[in-house]
Formats: sequence, structure tokens, C-alpha cells
Amino acid sequence: MTEQSKIAPVVKALPDAQTVTAVTHWTDRLFSFRCTRPRSLRFRSGEFVMLGLLGDTGKPLLRAYSIASPSWDEELEFYSIKVPDGPLTSRLQHIQPGDEIILRPKPVGTLVHDALLPGKRLWLFATGTGIAPFASLLRDPETFEKFEQVIFMHTCRELAELEYGRQLVESLPEDPLIGEFVGNKLLYYPTTTQDQSPHMGRITDNLTSGKVFADLGLPPLDPEIDRGMVCGSLDFNTDMKTILEAAGLREGANSEPAEYVVEKAFVG
Ligand SMILES: Cc1cc2nc3c(=O)[nH]c(=O)nc-3n(C[C@H](O)[C@H](O)[C@H](O)COP(=O)(O)OP(=O)(O)OC[C@H]3O[C@@H](n4cnc5c(N)ncnc54)[C@H](O)[C@@H]3O)c2cc1C
Ligand SMILES: NC(=O)c1ccc[n+]([C@@H]2O[C@H](COP(=O)([O-])OP(=O)(O)OC[C@H]3O[C@@H](n4cnc5c(N)ncnc54)[C@H](OP(=O)(O)O)[C@@H]3O)[C@@H](O)[C@H]2O)c1
Repeated sequence: MTEQSKIAPVVKALPDAQTVTAVTHWTDRLFSFRCTRPRSLRFRSGEFVMLGLLGDTGKPLLRAYSIASPSWDEELEFYSIKVPDGPLTSRLQHIQPGDEIILRPKPVGTLVHDALLPGKRLWLFATGTGIAPFASLLRDPETFEKFEQVIFMHTCRELAELEYGRQLVESLPEDPLIGEFVGNKLLYYPTTTQDQSPHMGRITDNLTSGKVFADLGLPPLDPEIDRGMVCGSLDFNTDMKTILEAAGLREGANSEPAEYVVEKAFVG
């Protein structure tokens, strides 16, 4: 082999190709993976990008994915559903380190600090894979610099579906980069709706009954103090909007920050 061929750059077969560096399967429905980060990619924690694989027709088959890693991370992390007959995830679930995926480096989204007015307490409300943007925000120092308290509510049907979030939250105090910012500011309130667990019930029910406030020793939602970010199914998001509006919080956007923001965790 000549010196020149040894240092020749690898020609990537895919457009916007990135290389998978790690894959973790959490349940038969959920996995996470890490991949290389395009040098040009700047994003705000909480945003999403389009990613995928080449489809059978030779055209990219792309879906929206929240970036689960924080903006300071050298690599990117994603947390994904496995839909058995889903056009993308029936194949994406089989990726291995060294494989290539397509990643369009154009991040967008509303679950960002810029879309919220300043406040004292930040509530993160997620069901299922809706945790992904919060996995990014929870590892961003800005989240803990901007708020005195951060309350993270995550609800899944089964205990095993909470594991990615549980391990992430547990790792935060020891994290050399984020640990000192988190301090004792984070309150974690995971619940299940089908498996037995220490805290049960839908996020919506635990808010309207007052249970979560009683359990955590917090006062009711107050638009002067509380800010919210919501990410789940369409039904969950709709029900959460009703609850937050009833408490006097208004929906914000990048162009007009307010007291809460919402994004769908998936369509359908
Ligand atoms: C803004 C945005 C951000 C998203 N971020 C993520 C993410 O971080 N992780 C992720 O796994 N998905 C995310 N999704 C969903 C993702 O875009 C795809 O729908 C998912 O990867 C499945 O693709 P598919 O082609 O296999 O099936 P699709 O044809 O896209 O979906 C088939 C059906 O599967 C169900 N479904 C799809 N996605 C989910 C999900 N995440 N949770 C539960 N049921 C689902 C729905 O009923 C849907 O109709 C996001 C969607 C949007 C709109
Ligand atoms: N998770 C599984 O084991 C499983 C297995 C096979 C297929 N699926 C299908 O996959 C799709 C997505 O499943 P998913 O579990 O990821 O997401 P999901 O159906 O949105 O449920 C996730 C969590 O959100 C709760 N929830 C749903 N709607 C809500 C609302 N309006 N207000 C408050 N909480 C709400 C659910 O509680 P409830 O339990 O009370 O609804 C559950 O704990 C669904 O169509 C589901 O039928 C799921």
C-alpha cells in the first residue's frame, strides 16, 4: 500500500453520512445510538433533525429525531422507538457501530430555552420517547443556570421503558461537565401506567389531582414562576395544553417566548 492510499480520505457512499459509534437496546421497543457529529452542525439543546437510511428506491428515507445529546457533546445521541413495520425503524433498529446513517444538519424545534420567558421553576413533561429532547436539555448547563429548580416528569407504560431516563438522571451529579450545575436543583418524578412502580399514573392525572405537588412539596403551577416543556403523543400534548392554559401559562414559540412550549414526540 502506498503512503498516499493510506491517508486518502474515505469516500462516503451516502449523502450527509455519519458513522454509528455505539448502540444500546433498552427494550424490544426502544434503543439508543450514538454517531459522529458533522463539523458544521450547531444546534440548541432540545432541537430535532431529519435522519435515516437509504430507502429501497435509492432515495433517503428520513424521519424527524430529537437530538438527545447536549450541544457541547462531540458526538450525537438519539433515542428511538422500534416500530415493527415502520418504514425506517424496522431497519434502523439493526444498525451496528461502523454503519452509516444519513443526517441532515439542519436543526429546528420549539423545545428550546429561547422560546421561554425567564422563570424560577422549569417543568419537563414527557411520555415515551418524548424524553429525547429533555435528555439533551438535562445535560445542558444553561438549563440549571436559568432555573432555580428543574422538575422532570416522565411516564411510560412499563418500568423497563423508564430505564434510559433513570440512568441518565442518576449519572448527572457525577458528570464532570454538568454535575456542579445540577447540584440539588433536579427533581425526578418517573411514573408508570401499567407496571407497578413507586409512583404510578399519567402525568396529567398526577397534576390535576395535586399528587405530584404533594409528593414533591411544591406549590401549584404559577405563571409568574413556572415554565413548562411538553413532549409526547398528540393526545398527551393536547391534554397538557389544557392543564397549563388553565393554570394561566401561555404557549411560546421561538418568535414569541412565553410560559410553555410543546412538540410532538411522533405523528400518529
Ligand atoms: C418533531 C419530531 C421529533 C421526533 N423525535 C423522535 C425521537 O427522538 N425518537 C423517536 O423514536 N421518534 C421520534 N419521532 C418519530 C419519528 O419521526 C418516526 O415516526 C419514528 O422513527 C418511526 O419511524 P418509522 O418510519 O419506523 O414509522 P412511522 O411510519 O414514522 O410511524 C409509524 C407509527 O408508529 C408510531 N410511532 C412512530 N414514532 C413513535 C414514537 N417515537 N413513539 C411511539 N410510537 C411511535 C405511530 O403510531 C406512527 O403512526 C419524532 C417525530 C417528530 C414529529
Ligand atoms: N408501550 C408498549 O408497551 C406498547 C406495545 C405495543 C404497542 N404500543 C403502541 O405504540 C404506540 C405508542 O406507545 P407508547 O407507549 O410509546 O406511547 P403512548 O401510547 O403515548 O403512551 C406512553 C405513556 O403516555 C401515557 N398517555 C397516553 N395518552 C395520554 C394522555 N392523553 N394524557 C396523559 N398520559 C397519556 C400512557 O398512559 P396509559 O397507559 O394510561 O395510556 C403511557 O404511560 C401506541 O399506539 C401503543 O398502542 C405500545
